[in-house]
Amino acid sequence: MILPIVTYPDEILTKRAAAVTEITNAVIQLLDDMQETMQAYDGVGLAAPQVGQSLRVAIVETDDESGPLELINPKLIMQEGEAVDVEGCLSFPDVFGTVKRAAKIAVRYVDREGYENELVAHDYAARIIQHEIEHLDGGLFTDRMIRRLTPEELEEYMEEHDDD
Ligand code: CO
Repeated sequence: MILPIVTYPDEILTKRAAAVTEITNAVIQLLDDMQETMQAYDGVGLAAPQVGQSLRVAIVETDDESGPLELINPKLIMQEGEAVDVEGCLSFPDVFGTVKRAAKIAVRYVDREGYENELVAHDYAARIIQHEIEHLDGGLFTDRMIRRLTPEELEEYMEEHDDD
């Protein structure tokens, strides 16, 4: 089911989300719905608070045919280097700007089967994972934005990323 996206300034977006204590059918359903929702809105990542659930669940688009990476109770266990690049967010329609993040990260998380996993990510994937975990802590990328793109820059950016 495609869920409605919560947009700023809804207060759920600035609240720390609760850990998942048990992977119930409701959590599995939430993951499935979030996947459908992210595809419908053409997003590259989505955190549960963005669909109105204050839970530590997020998904991140991958090139993998098996679908998006599903992160339950994700925790960054390593952050290295720095990278500045453009980000947007489904909860902030039309806001795009440059944000500094770690260039390389490692994340520990639980998957839908209940297994603990660790993953190392670089560049764009690392950026999305950091953005989504920030959502779970009630953080917003706009608070750390270095500079918002002008309408002209945004148009150019969209053209460049149209064939994604
Ligand atoms: Co976001």
